[in-house]
Amino acid sequence: MQSDIDRSEGDVNLGSRRADWQATHIDTATRALLDEDARWFLHQSMSTPCLNALEGAQGSWLTDLAGRRILDFHGNSLHQVGYGHPKVMAAMRQTLETLPFSPRRYTNRPAIELARRLCTAAPMDEAKLLFAPGGTAAIGMALKLARLVTGRFKTLSMWDAFHGASLDAISIGGEAVFRKGIGPLLPGTEHVPPCDPAQCVFGCGGTCALRCVDYIDYCMRKEGDIAAVVVETIRCTDVQIPPLDYYRRLRQICDRHGALLILDEIPIALGRTGHLFAIERYGIEPDMIVIGKGLGGGSMPLAALIARSRFDVGQHISLGHYTHEKNPLACAAGLAVLDVIEEEQLLQRSRRLGGEVTAYLEDARCEAISSVRSAGLLVGIELKDTATRSAQDLAEAVLYRCLSDGISFKVGQGNVLVLAPPLNIDEEDLWWALGRIVDAVKEASRT
Ligand SMILES: Cc1ncc(COP(=O)(O)O)c(C=O)c1O
Repeated sequence: MQSDIDRSEGDVNLGSRRADWQATHIDTATRALLDEDARWFLHQSMSTPCLNALEGAQGSWLTDLAGRRILDFHGNSLHQVGYGHPKVMAAMRQTLETLPFSPRRYTNRPAIELARRLCTAAPMDEAKLLFAPGGTAAIGMALKLARLVTGRFKTLSMWDAFHGASLDAISIGGEAVFRKGIGPLLPGTEHVPPCDPAQCVFGCGGTCALRCVDYIDYCMRKEGDIAAVVVETIRCTDVQIPPLDYYRRLRQICDRHGALLILDEIPIALGRTGHLFAIERYGIEPDMIVIGKGLGGGSMPLAALIARSRFDVGQHISLGHYTHEKNPLACAAGLAVLDVIEEEQLLQRSRRLGGEVTAYLEDARCEAISSVRSAGLLVGIELKDTATRSAQDLAEAVLYRCLSDGISFKVGQGNVLVLAPPLNIDEEDLWWALGRIVDAVKEASRT
């Protein structure tokens, strides 16, 4: 049995399968570099020891030190437009030549233009934003702004959620691997079960009756002074997709109790789910949205807290004050990403390919697949126990078999294969990889 820690958002990096895989795939030069990595980096769960070392990243493909190509369905969820997109590179190169940095006290055109475009596109009546050098930092700003706006400090967030690795973010996050033994965490950060139709703890029994939302209502009533509900609109790590009514009800409840609704869309905004902002599919207006990852074009660290304009009440206090709060290079990359999404019609492509992939996986009829969940090109294949193997064991076997074939993806919660390819992936590459993944699942469930 895996513990909660083993089953959290990343795949396990200390298992025997990993060691076996490395024994057959890692050459001497790469081994030496991996040892050097282990020598100099502080070790931490889920990042060390590393599996392999890279030399290149281009489009949808990574190249390792030995020259092997790996189709990347993982990408830390930041490669919506792939790696090294020519438009993104050109925009960055040009800005690097002319304005490599913009110190505080000054502003610059790329930052203002990116702010204007994101705020105009955000599903809010009127929005303003702050940039930050990473998603976690932007979440921290959201929490501070919620305190400022409401005069309250308590939050409700979801068990098993991930909002970043800093102390404030792990306080609202719900994953054991980040929280265990590191407290005390922020006071007033209460947790509730997420809307997880696949494994509903309220016993909704397959047809979601939104009892989880009733419970949030109950908690809000009992506490009476919740500042904000913080939630990943669609959870990326194991592809949890709440039903359409979830956010309509949550919006009503937040309004009724005077709480803000803060959405974490760091890995899933910018087209992953077929919309620029994932909440668009639900047709409600949140109070704040946090985005990041792909906003930096797959190269630059950049995130944004987008909030209703009327929450512009922090003049007297620093919400972020980050050195890179208006980095022109990162913002130029962000502008290029928005252009590429528009010009290559990636929202439509994400929806179309996501639908086709889901149909293909459902047709594949693998006994080990218990469900396929998707929103655009975010696809989760949940595996179940077979007569001979646990779902977690199957998922690991499939992962390492696919890595041998040159396909990388993430495993969420121990048994969900999470496929998140670039939205502009070549269709030939996509279908080749899916064929291999299905074959690997079938093969693993036969043995
Ligand atoms: C849902 C979610 N929130 C927050 C974060 C933290 O973002 P960052 O790593 O840029 O700090 C992540 C990163 O994986 C994420 O997936």
